[in-house]
Amino acid sequence: MKFLVLGAAAGGGLPQWNCGCANCNDARAGRIPPAGQSSLAVSVDGAKWAILNASPDIRQQMQASPQMHPTALRDTPVGAVLLTNGDIDHIAGLLSLREQTAFDLYATGEILDVLAQNRIFDAVSRDKVSRVSVALDQPFDVLPGLLATLFAVPGKVPLFMEGAQVQTDLEGEQTVGVRLSDGHRVAYYIPGCAVVTDALLDRISDADQVFFDGTLWDDDEMIRTGTGGKTGRRMGHIPISGPDGSIARLSGLQAAKTFIHINNTNPIWQPDSPERAHVIGNGWQIAGDGQETEI
Ligand code: MLT
Ligand code: MN
Ligand code: ZN
Repeated sequence: MKFLVLGAAAGGGLPQWNCGCANCNDARAGRIPPAGQSSLAVSVDGAKWAILNASPDIRQQMQASPQMHPTALRDTPVGAVLLTNGDIDHIAGLLSLREQTAFDLYATGEILDVLAQNRIFDAVSRDKVSRVSVALDQPFDVLPGLLATLFAVPGKVPLFMEGAQVQTDLEGEQTVGVRLSDGHRVAYYIPGCAVVTDALLDRISDADQVFFDGTLWDDDEMIRTGTGGKTGRRMGHIPISGPDGSIARLSGLQAAKTFIHINNTNPIWQPDSPERAHVIGNGWQIAGDGQETEI
């Protein structure tokens, strides 16, 4: 399987339009590489690709990636788009894919409902783009020779659909992870995860490669940096650090591990930060736009 990181950043991107934090300023000034909102392309043959989450930055991400360029007058190497939740950073890019070229759109019934409730997505012609409702835990061919399975991951409803009360560790069709297999190797894409449960650890124990939620270094990061009022857990994202964080919880996993969906406030963006050194010292990689991996 071949992977191409189209976007490594969380919602907002790096830099984020309204953010003057050190990371965003450094990305604007070219001192650290900028990053688009999270999206991962996967292929078995390097010719046909599936895009996991359609970021608002998709037009630029495709322009920057020769693998995504048109193959004929009006054609695309993208055979499928798969959604793992209904947040804006994962669905808004669909609107840029509206120009009457066919691909298959896969998501759970509840995520497809989010699209159905927002009529702007009707601009993505249903004649050309079939919306395929995928049941949890039922493997399907997302591309020829590439088996995908969606499974529930603790999370919440999209930010723009939150009510007064929000359950942040809901397990259902709103937030899913993806298991990918070409019959030889197994990879997981889990860009949003509120808690790493024992059941989740068990499920991903056959992984050769995991792309995992790297939104925040610690739970209080948004509050501490003065950029927001919510903890990571309230946002549906487990922190990287700490005894219940992702590094600790996934430490026994025998797989290549890569953080993706990294918020612009996260200190791991800084090349010389102790936090980045800690992540790398614990055997993790940090995604960057344009990064390619093959397993
Ligand atoms: C998230 O991952 O928490 C969302 O992308 C938030 C957002 O929509 O900005
Ligand atoms: Mn997000
Ligand atoms: Zn910032």
